[in-house]
Amino acid sequence: MNIKKLSLIAGMALIGASAGMAHKTTPDWIKTAVFYDIYPSSFMDSDGNGIGDIPGIISRLDYVKSLGVDAIWMNPIYKSGWFDGGYDIIDYYSVDPRFGTNSDVRRLVDEAHKRGLKVCLDLVPGHTSNQSEWFKRAATEGPEGRYADYYIFADEISPKDSADIKKRHQLGDPDNSKLGLWVPTAEAGIPLPESGKYTGNFYLRNYYPCQPALNFGYAKPDSKKSWQQPLDAPGPKALRREMKNIMAYWFDQGVDGFRVDMAASLVRGDKDKKGIMNLWEDMRDWIDREYPGKVLIAEWGDPEHALPGGFDMDFLLIHNSPGFKQITRGTERSKAVGKDAYFEKTGTGAYDKFVKEFSDQYQKSKDYGYISLFSANHDINRLNSEGRDTPDQIKTFMTFLLTMPGVPFIHYGDEIMMRNVKGLPSVEGSREERSGTRTPMQWDNTPTAGFSTAAPEKLYLPIYTDGGKLTVEVQENDPNSVLNFTRALIKLRHDHPMLANAGNWETISDQSKPYPWVYERSNGTERYIVALNPGAKAVSYTLPAEASDSDLELLLANGKVTSKKTKKGIEIKLPGVSSAVFKVK
Ligand code: GLC
Repeated sequence: MNIKKLSLIAGMALIGASAGMAHKTTPDWIKTAVFYDIYPSSFMDSDGNGIGDIPGIISRLDYVKSLGVDAIWMNPIYKSGWFDGGYDIIDYYSVDPRFGTNSDVRRLVDEAHKRGLKVCLDLVPGHTSNQSEWFKRAATEGPEGRYADYYIFADEISPKDSADIKKRHQLGDPDNSKLGLWVPTAEAGIPLPESGKYTGNFYLRNYYPCQPALNFGYAKPDSKKSWQQPLDAPGPKALRREMKNIMAYWFDQGVDGFRVDMAASLVRGDKDKKGIMNLWEDMRDWIDREYPGKVLIAEWGDPEHALPGGFDMDFLLIHNSPGFKQITRGTERSKAVGKDAYFEKTGTGAYDKFVKEFSDQYQKSKDYGYISLFSANHDINRLNSEGRDTPDQIKTFMTFLLTMPGVPFIHYGDEIMMRNVKGLPSVEGSREERSGTRTPMQWDNTPTAGFSTAAPEKLYLPIYTDGGKLTVEVQENDPNSVLNFTRALIKLRHDHPMLANAGNWETISDQSKPYPWVYERSNGTERYIVALNPGAKAVSYTLPAEASDSDLELLLANGKVTSKKTKKGIEIKLPGVSSAVFKVK
């Protein structure tokens, strides 16, 4: 191949050699893995109560396998108070009855493994439900009680914190997740102990008020604040052991790993992040020793720290990744951006921030693990939102997601272009903004979309199939569907490992003229070119090449994308809203 030294091209960003080292026991399957995430309440209902369950998921494993993905991540399935979609856990060791039993999980794992699929659960180490036995005992047994130091209690809080509590109530919004750090213990509704006094008048919360923070300690405790314990105090130490026990329990059931919720939230007052990195390194060492090959996925949004800290992969999160926001979040979702996202038809977006951010994070973390990009998740709008509502738009984004380095995650239903339904009620703490991405999976064109035998109005959340078009059944039989295109992309990624998680990535198009976006995946000898045009206008790009002996072979295209040798190089022409993957010959 003879493409000219690409370093001559202005605005180019090169990111280097393959992420290879990872952690001692990162399993090989991660190198080409594509994950599929399942919100268990919404995937498949086997018992007709309108809510999904584990036997339901088992019954749909052949479909999951047919996508070509390698692994599943499921949101929490444990016994929960259901004020935050399962993230308010009452008992980490038991499956919530709505989903089935612990043996159903074992069966799920066995059935998945039989099909070559891995299963990762969600670990929520930062908080429990305020209805958990741990918390009830902690709140009522006094400072000497077995669980008192599992949580962070205070008898007095600052005037600002008191004002926040008042405001939260005055607003008639007791579940507000943004107002105030401390919660009156009485709010948990636990009967007062005989002593007439809770262990502390207030507890620190981690997310919603119903989610008391677990106490992993303070990096630099302030001796004047009695609740600030050092990282090696008995409570924080016992909790680390407890988290290992929880992981061990599920590893012993055959589970392959965990996505770790709010992974950075455990250590407080930890500006340089050493405390939290140490904590996860400790967990990692334990996994390497006791459960080699199990996987840890961070919800941290900071691969530079999360990966050296012990995780195999970390998500780039929208809220702290301005670059990921720049390409995916337009004015509808994030007023802060104030512009259209790159992946919008208007063609007025940019990708420069993303390239800078991703390259920077990649350089700093590639020796330890992988960055994870995603189509959406249970917190984040689906692809089919913000005016991205045609199959070619979704296919263009999927082309990007499935040809980037790192470990990509597909949110259930995005592969059939499910719509992010607007205006839905808040269900179990979803708030309207998250309801739209948690609606039931759409299998067929019946009134409940094949999700459940319950009446349509009994479903966990309403469905929207657009006259049956946004269903597995219809798209299965359409060779041009988003579903079949997504399958083709996943297959391509597996057939050409340079397109997968560890090949080099380099933007070669001019960032000041962002449509199209052209990047290269390579290892020096094998090279692939990906061209993306999310905008409605046709565009072209000339790859500076010596025309004599190099050419492009089209591997997969969304739209009539062509390439032709010219004197200047190889001209790639992309119609409006299209994408293509080429191999350089
Ligand atoms: C994470 C979860 C989110 C949950 C929160 C509190 O961000 O993804 O759904 O509400 O943590 O656990």
